[in-house]
Amino acid sequence: MKKGLFITLEGIDFSGKSTQARYLINFLKRNNIQHLFLREPGGTKLSERIRRILLSKGEIDICPKSELWLYQAARSQIVQEKIIPAVKDGKIVICDRFYDSTTAYQSYGRGLELKFIQRINLFAAEGIKPDLTLLFDLPEKKAFERKSKLNRAKDRLENEKLAFFRRVRKGYLELAENNKRRMKVINADGPKEKVRDEMLETVVSFLKRRKIRIRM
Ligand SMILES: Nc1ncnc2c1ncn2[C@@H]1O[C@H](COP(=O)(O)OP(=O)(O)OP(=O)(O)O)[C@@H](O)[C@H]1O
Ligand SMILES: [Mg+2]
Repeated sequence: MKKGLFITLEGIDFSGKSTQARYLINFLKRNNIQHLFLREPGGTKLSERIRRILLSKGEIDICPKSELWLYQAARSQIVQEKIIPAVKDGKIVICDRFYDSTTAYQSYGRGLELKFIQRINLFAAEGIKPDLTLLFDLPEKKAFERKSKLNRAKDRLENEKLAFFRRVRKGYLELAENNKRRMKVINADGPKEKVRDEMLETVVSFLKRRKIRIRM
């Protein structure tokens, strides 16, 4: 039944996921590999609307449990409407964030129960699992340095946020440790091109194992 592949990109905010996603898409294009690029939350009409709600957190109160269900609602829709059909169609689906984000942020970050979160992740995702997850690992302080380059306004909550992202990062690394075959840690602390080369090396060896022919 399943012909394509499902690859997800993970990491804390500002770790460089979207930057590296662009390199990955260019690489797939160069190799004439059929693919579909998506992001979470998003990728469908409903999921993009939910994304807007989630991003308006400064204007409306969203408690951690409401936030959790909003992410899961957006996820169910993109899985049914986009991911499953594309994989069945033989495409390589690349998704910028997926359910490991929920585990890392909502459980390790906000303290919701880990086992429960992982169960509803699978429930929302129809039980599908990524074939490969690239975890862009960056110390939270470095992520904040990148952020402050873009936005110079100093944040009162900076210390609290640092502690939050430290927990999220630790969560991601624990997940990677427990899912060694699926999750590959990419060192995101270096120039973009260096991170790109490490990512592509990982992707190429993964695709070769799946008998997909590539040139660099
Ligand atoms: N290796 C790198 N070194 C320095 N800066 C980088 C690197 N990779 C990305 N950046 C910069 O850091 C910022 C965040 O990158 P990007 O948007 O790719 O991160 P992200 O993980 O997608 O973040 P978010 O989770 O917020 O979507 C951007 O301004 C980007 O240009
Ligand atoms: Mg991004």
